[in-house]
Amino acid sequence: DWTMAEFRATKIADIQAQVGEGRVICGLSGGVDSAVAAVLIHEAIGDQLTCVFVDHGLMRLGEAEQVVSLFREHYGIKLVHVNAEERFLGGLAGLTDPEKKRKFIGAEFIAVFEEEAKKIGGADFLAQGTLYPDVIESVSFTGGPSVTIKSHHNVGGLPERMNMKLVEPLRELFKDEVRVLGRELGLPEIFVGRHPFPGPGLAIRIPGEVSKDRCDILRKADAIYLEEIRNAGLYDAIWQAFAVLLPVRTVGVMGDHRTYDSVCALRAVTSTDGMTADIYPFDAAFLSRVATRIINEVKGINRVVYDYTSKPPGTIEWE
Ligand code: XMP
Repeated sequence: DWTMAEFRATKIADIQAQVGEGRVICGLSGGVDSAVAAVLIHEAIGDQLTCVFVDHGLMRLGEAEQVVSLFREHYGIKLVHVNAEERFLGGLAGLTDPEKKRKFIGAEFIAVFEEEAKKIGGADFLAQGTLYPDVIESVSFTGGPSVTIKSHHNVGGLPERMNMKLVEPLRELFKDEVRVLGRELGLPEIFVGRHPFPGPGLAIRIPGEVSKDRCDILRKADAIYLEEIRNAGLYDAIWQAFAVLLPVRTVGVMGDHRTYDSVCALRAVTSTDGMTADIYPFDAAFLSRVATRIINEVKGINRVVYDYTSKPPGTIEWE
């Protein structure tokens, strides 16, 4: 892409001019935005960049390993992988209110990030994958002008706390342009084309109390669902698809046994910006194939339902 090639060259020069001999720290979330920002900055200043990946243990199946190997092995970027699963799950124990869960995760994320930044001796700059829509709309994009429907988890509070200057090379871009830039930088398609994933991760897809067991059950169901979506060639037609593990158990029958296990809900929506969304109209054969696989392959789930709620009145995530 000609314009993106030019944008890339211009930004690299800008980053070099801004940073000079300084040190930059960048938080990776596993999402496209922070990944593209990190790769671009690495191209500009190499080892002056250190990435910190706070792994809260709430990622999807195999995702954390994917991030680490892509950045360390493929790009040779200095990366601190912080395994903070126990810390996050410990703090989430006993929390059931969606806002309390979100707030805990956001605050804990910042605390862990700060500690790690200190351990590596600090930095002069903090890099963020802020996009243009984030710049123009600093209120939660799920809320109206004055109502916050959900507190969004991001690292917005970090710069002031840590007294660092910001490097935000994607500030002029929209999501689709970030994807083009990511391809231009050689990021693999599976990464660049990935559905959005919320900062609080699987915690907001497990209504009620989160535990390691419930995360593991959800990860398996979610992976089966997404595998079937990819196999059916539907992944790119969908804005976001995921499984939700409900805090409800129902009675079922497996062979000649009674079961009493959790319900899993499947969500898939189309959208252009996440502000509004329509349900994705899978055919019945597809849904029943996914339901059968999940119930047969995932211990702990014995019933699968499909979420037919558009946004509004529903939100995309369940919490
Ligand atoms: P809702 O559920 O509010 O979600 O309709 C709209 C879009 O935002 C994503 N989302 C988040 N992204 N941090 C994020 O980075 C968050 O705290 C968060 N909460 C929701 C959601 O996945 C959907 O794409």
